[in-house]
Amino acid sequence: MESADVDGGTDNARVRSDGDDPNPFVRFRRFMAWHAFALSHGMSDAATVELVRDTNDGFRTTPVVRSSSLSDELAFSASGGVWVKDETANVGGSQKARHLMSILLHLRVAESLGIAPWTPESRPSLAISSCGNAAIAAATLAHEVRWPLDVFIPEWAGGVVVSTLESLGANITRCPRRSEDPPGDPTVLRFREAVSRGAIPFSVQGPENALCLDGGRTFGWELAESMIDAGIDDLDALFVQVGGGAFAASVSRGAREAGLRAPLFAVQTEGCAPLARAWTTARDDDAMARHWSDHMWAWETEPRSLADGILDDETYDWVADVVELKATNGRVIVAREKNVIRASQMGPEVVGVNVSPTGSAGLAGLLECRAELADDARVVVAFSGVRRD
Ligand SMILES: Cc1ncc(COP(=O)(O)O)c(C=O)c1O
Repeated sequence: MESADVDGGTDNARVRSDGDDPNPFVRFRRFMAWHAFALSHGMSDAATVELVRDTNDGFRTTPVVRSSSLSDELAFSASGGVWVKDETANVGGSQKARHLMSILLHLRVAESLGIAPWTPESRPSLAISSCGNAAIAAATLAHEVRWPLDVFIPEWAGGVVVSTLESLGANITRCPRRSEDPPGDPTVLRFREAVSRGAIPFSVQGPENALCLDGGRTFGWELAESMIDAGIDDLDALFVQVGGGAFAASVSRGAREAGLRAPLFAVQTEGCAPLARAWTTARDDDAMARHWSDHMWAWETEPRSLADGILDDETYDWVADVVELKATNGRVIVAREKNVIRASQMGPEVVGVNVSPTGSAGLAGLLECRAELADDARVVVAFSGVRRD
């Protein structure tokens, strides 16, 4: 891969898959940081392929298809329309396992080369704070390689996510707010305490573990490959729902690296939209990362939406999101709750995908701004997570 500069410029970069292996962590391995790390420490390329297979060989390129029913419903013409990339059958039921797989491969490379400060018998725990798709992805991957995992969840959590975590052998810690706690989510506080005691941050947020952004790009590479194979290298909009922000940043970056022109339409809900707020000020600040708290702070009111997986009160990866918004000439869309609800119905009923309200929130963004798009516009929405109830 030709290298991309730190401002996100990738004009000369072109990621192309290597062979036709169905597992994207094999097919695109040469473009990922864990693979460069492995080779630079003496591991053979053949051994990296073996390592992917042994870690998790369930990843497959997820389908992207023009939905004629959705395109008709939204009055797009035959030359335009809505393509849906359906991630609901991915490992763990969402895109989160892509982020975590690149962390896990990095750890396993270090372990198998004997350069990690532990042995397979004395592995430190992985740690994550989540009670949703990220936790399930973490538990799925950790279970497969028998790596201990601590999951920090809210005191009130229950239901199918918790029972799935239990069945996968995760070590669950419920986190009530303690009177001496500083402001902030108690599950994040307990997670950070565990990391400071030696646990490994198995996180889907770049500031906690930047290696998660590495594997997230596979979604964008696959998307670009599928669209370019279908003769389309130029989209009018790529709708991606934003919670912590890692997904949008890595998808957009991946699409760009693989030569797909795709303006990022980052979607938040009216009940929690810290990225929309940051975008209005940070877009004109060339030193935005140094002025973090001028642009990003916790959403002041109780975050609320049916799309409850994207209610992060801060967009942790906002700097990378703003880089992508600027580089692709994109925008932030704030979806009204009525469109979040309508999108959650259209996913199963019109498109025929068993997608969750969080997973269809990108479609809510399209509903919000449909009137501003031409009838022959070509747009992509990411259906990122399965409905579990
Ligand atoms: C299904 C689904 N889609 C999208 C997102 C948003 O991803 P990110 O938090 O990286 O912005 C999440 C986050 O939990 C999710 O569960």
